[in-house]
Amino acid sequence: MNRRPMMGLIFIQLKKGKTMRPFFDLAKLTERKIGHGFLIDNVPLSKILECNHSPVYVTSLNAVAERVNIYQTTLKKYFKNNSIFYAMKANFSNPILKQVQETTAGVDIVSIGEWRAALKAGFSPQKICFAGVGKKEEEWREAIEGGLGYLNVEHLDELKDILNYISDNINKLKFIPVISLRLNPCLEVKTHPHLKTGALDSKFGILFEHFEEWVINIKQVFPNSQAFQEWISPLKGIHVHVGSQLMENKIFSLIIEKILECASFMFENNIKPYHIDLGGGLGVPYEGVSLDGTDISVHVEFFCSTLINLAKKYKKLHILWGNQCENLFVCFEPGRSIVASSTVFLTKVLYTKHNSNDHNFCFVDGAMNDFPRPSIYNAKHQCEVVNFENSEFLKQNSLRKKIHWQIVGPVCESGDFLSKDALLPKLFKNDVLAFFEAGAYCRSMASHYNLRKLPAEIFIKNGKIIEIIEN
Ligand code: LLP
Repeated sequence: MNRRPMMGLIFIQLKKGKTMRPFFDLAKLTERKIGHGFLIDNVPLSKILECNHSPVYVTSLNAVAERVNIYQTTLKKYFKNNSIFYAMKANFSNPILKQVQETTAGVDIVSIGEWRAALKAGFSPQKICFAGVGKKEEEWREAIEGGLGYLNVEHLDELKDILNYISDNINKLKFIPVISLRLNPCLEVKTHPHLKTGALDSKFGILFEHFEEWVINIKQVFPNSQAFQEWISPLKGIHVHVGSQLMENKIFSLIIEKILECASFMFENNIKPYHIDLGGGLGVPYEGVSLDGTDISVHVEFFCSTLINLAKKYKKLHILWGNQCENLFVCFEPGRSIVASSTVFLTKVLYTKHNSNDHNFCFVDGAMNDFPRPSIYNAKHQCEVVNFENSEFLKQNSLRKKIHWQIVGPVCESGDFLSKDALLPKLFKNDVLAFFEAGAYCRSMASHYNLRKLPAEIFIKNGKIIEIIEN
C-alpha cells in the first residue's frame, strides 16, 4: 500500500513499524497547525473541512478492506472452505458495503432492510447470511425466495416453520439456504452487560438440552428415518456468538467444546453438520491502547487451531470432517473489528463554559444521537483536538496546558455527552475535535432525536475523497 512517510505520530507503537491506526496520521500537539496536522488516509483535514459538513464521519475504505483481508488470509490458512460475513449492523453505509463486497467477503444481516441494502451494494444472495433473534416469517420468506445462502435460527419453532416451508416449496426454490442452529453455550464473558449474548440469562440462541429433546421428539413424527433425514437436511450448521467487544481468547476453547458436543449429537441423529459459524465479537481498543489489525489474525488463528485440535477427541466426526477438519466450512461474522478503526467522527466546538475548576464543559455540534456509544454504553472513545481556529493558541504556551473537559452536545438531556473526561488544551469556537474508533455502531445507531439531522459521511479511498453522503 502506498503510504506517505509518517509525521510525528502520537499513537502508540505496537510492533516495529506498526501503528495502531495506520490510516490516520496526527502530528504532536505542539506541531499541529491551523488546517494542518491531521491526515486521513493521506487526505489532509483542510480538504475535509472544505466540504463544510459538521458533525461528520470520515472513513478510510482502504482500512476496511485491509481488515477484511486479514480475516480472509488467516482463515484460509486453516480451512479451504471458509467465509467472512461482515456484520453490517456495525455500519451499513453503502460505500462500506460495496468495499466489503469487492473483497469477496459475504455479509451478515438481521432484517429485511439490511437484506435489501446488501443486494443494493452488489452482494450475491448466496453470500448473505440472515441471522436475527426475532425474524418475521415474511422476512425470511422474502430472503429464501430471493436465493439466500445462509440462515441462522434462534428458536426451535422458527426452525420447524422454516424446514416445513422449505420442504413444502422444494420444487419452487432455486436455492436452499444452509441453516445453522444458534447455540446458547451458557458462558459468561467479560464485556458490557448489554453486549453479552451467550449466558443462561440471555435471549439469544437455543440451549443444547432443548435441542436434544426437540430432535428426539420430532423424529417420532416422521414415518421413517429417511423421511426425517430429508426434512432436516437443510440444517447443516452450528452458530455461536457469545458477545461483542471481547478482549480475551480464553473463552473460545469452551465455546468450541460446546460446538463439538452439539455436532456429535447431530451426527448420531442423522443430521450432518458441515458448517460452523464462529460469530463475531472481537473487540477494539477504544481507549487508545493495545490491538491493531494483526490481532485479528491472533484471534482467528486461536479459534481455528483450537477447533482442529479439540475435534481430534471426537473420532466419529472425523468421518464427516476428515482428520484436519478439511471438509468443514468455517466462517466468522465480524462487525466491529472490521470497521471501528476505519473511521473518525469530527465535530466542531460551539462554546465553552466553566462552572468550576472541575466542571469544564465544551459544547460541540455533535450530540448523543449522532455519536451514541458514550451515552448508551458509557464507552470511552479517544478524543483529540485536530484543528485550531484561534491563532493565539499557537503563540501562547499557557493556552496549551491540558484540562479535563466534558464534551457535550446540543440535545436536551444530561445524558448527552461524547466524553465525560477528555484531557485537552484550552478550546475555542470552531476548533475541531476527532473521536477515534468511530466506524462501528456509531453512524448505524444514530437517530433523529430532537429532530436533528443525521451526520454527514465522507469516504476516502487511495488518498482521495470518493463519496460524500449528506444524510
Ligand atoms: N453476530 C451476531 C449474531 C451479533 O449479534 C453481532 C453483534 C455480531 C455478529 C457482530 O459482532 P461484532 O464483531 O461487531 O462484535 N451496539 C453495540 C454492539 C452490539 C453488537 C450486536 N451484535 C456497541 O456499540 O458496542
